[in-house]
Amino acid sequence: MNLITAPRGTFDLMPQQALAWQWMETKIRAVLQAYGYGEIRTPIFEHTELFQRGIGETTDIVEKEMYTLTDKGGRSLTLRPEGTASVVRAYIEHKLYAQAPVTKLYYIGPMFRQERPQAGRFRQFHQFGVELLGEESPVADAEVIILAHDLYRQLGLTELEIHLNTVGCPHCRQAYKAALTSALAAVAEQLCSTCRVRLERNPLRVLDCKSPVCQELIGRVPSIHNYLCADCRDHFDRVTTLLEQVGVKYELSPKLVRGLDYYTRTVFEIINVNLGAQNALCGGGRYDGLVEECGGPAVPGVGFASGIERLFTTLEQQKKIPALTSGPQLYVVPLGEELTVVAFEVATVLRRQGFSVEMGNGTKSLKAQLKTAHKAGAAYTLIIGEDEWREGQVTLKTMADGSQKRLPVSGLVAEIAKLVSLQGPQVPLREE
Ligand code: HAM
Repeated sequence: MNLITAPRGTFDLMPQQALAWQWMETKIRAVLQAYGYGEIRTPIFEHTELFQRGIGETTDIVEKEMYTLTDKGGRSLTLRPEGTASVVRAYIEHKLYAQAPVTKLYYIGPMFRQERPQAGRFRQFHQFGVELLGEESPVADAEVIILAHDLYRQLGLTELEIHLNTVGCPHCRQAYKAALTSALAAVAEQLCSTCRVRLERNPLRVLDCKSPVCQELIGRVPSIHNYLCADCRDHFDRVTTLLEQVGVKYELSPKLVRGLDYYTRTVFEIINVNLGAQNALCGGGRYDGLVEECGGPAVPGVGFASGIERLFTTLEQQKKIPALTSGPQLYVVPLGEELTVVAFEVATVLRRQGFSVEMGNGTKSLKAQLKTAHKAGAAYTLIIGEDEWREGQVTLKTMADGSQKRLPVSGLVAEIAKLVSLQGPQVPLREE
């Protein structure tokens, strides 16, 4: 029989890795909440039309990377390839614009793109992202860029580069598109076959091409900065001034256009130079026409999304993931089968108090049970012997140094709470 494996471009997270992801997600959520973002959870699939309209018909995502299916009712549905369109759809559907002038939302979860898998590129990958809706000021652009940068820094990352550009507004982009088209048309023969099609359908996409020959040609085409209208120029200058004001370094990348069509004005990516070909940790920008395009009022927006796998790899590379233990805090050892019920009760009481507890097998010797406790990564063992139990006592053994201590059964929970550090597993063990 053929072994069934995880589909190409997907992966499983084993408990120890999942623990590191939980640690990372907890940190991410804390920073996003500190910046005033509330979590939004949208469906994993949406009507296909949302992405066609939102992301753009001529983008790689919509043209070739979407997982689209027709359901039994004949509706075309698509697994979300990104989060922005869904957030905007929910923002309009729930009329959030009527509740407050500015809305700050974050999301975290899986996205799906049928890309060619390689290091840092998956078919099911994870993103966290923020969307700041209702603010047209360049302060919002700068805030979002700084948030992404601060978040990475708070996770301990260094060696980051912010690549910054503007793609103008539909007005000035029109003039730029014309100039770009005629410059590219002059070298059309030398462009790769994909770019020749892009030149016809959406010449800005050519700037995204990674082929060395196209890259060389792109180096010679005019820059959008020579075609910006006064408002777009002013907006961009104000974003850069704000970044400089707070000492955030960036690199101007005049050819950065991003792979989604909704952007207007500011676009940016944060790069980890050591990640190889897929080195963008996050990408984002302003999208002032998207809410309207999706059927809502004219509300501006700006945001970014970060790839969690790439962030994880970077954290591993830079050795920023602390040692995390998934072992139980306590391992209850019944000395004899007849103490199983007692040990089970003690374990249950302690679990109900929020401790992570495993229990040994009373038919096994003390030595064998301690060995299992050690293997499981238990911080302490609670040994229950018949005579001691009759006297109302148990023995607490610290696994790290082997020291032992007798504890009275009455008030055991309070005593253990004092002794046992709650820093074991990184999941919240107690509710506030
Ligand atoms: P994006 O550049 O398509 O933008 O994706 C953002 C990040 O997701 C990338 O920088 C990368 O870290 C990660 N990513 C994308 N595709 C993959 C993949 N196949 N495998 C692994 N990681 C991947 C967006 O998705 C926009 N929605 C960002 C945004 C939010 N703009 C405004 N608001």
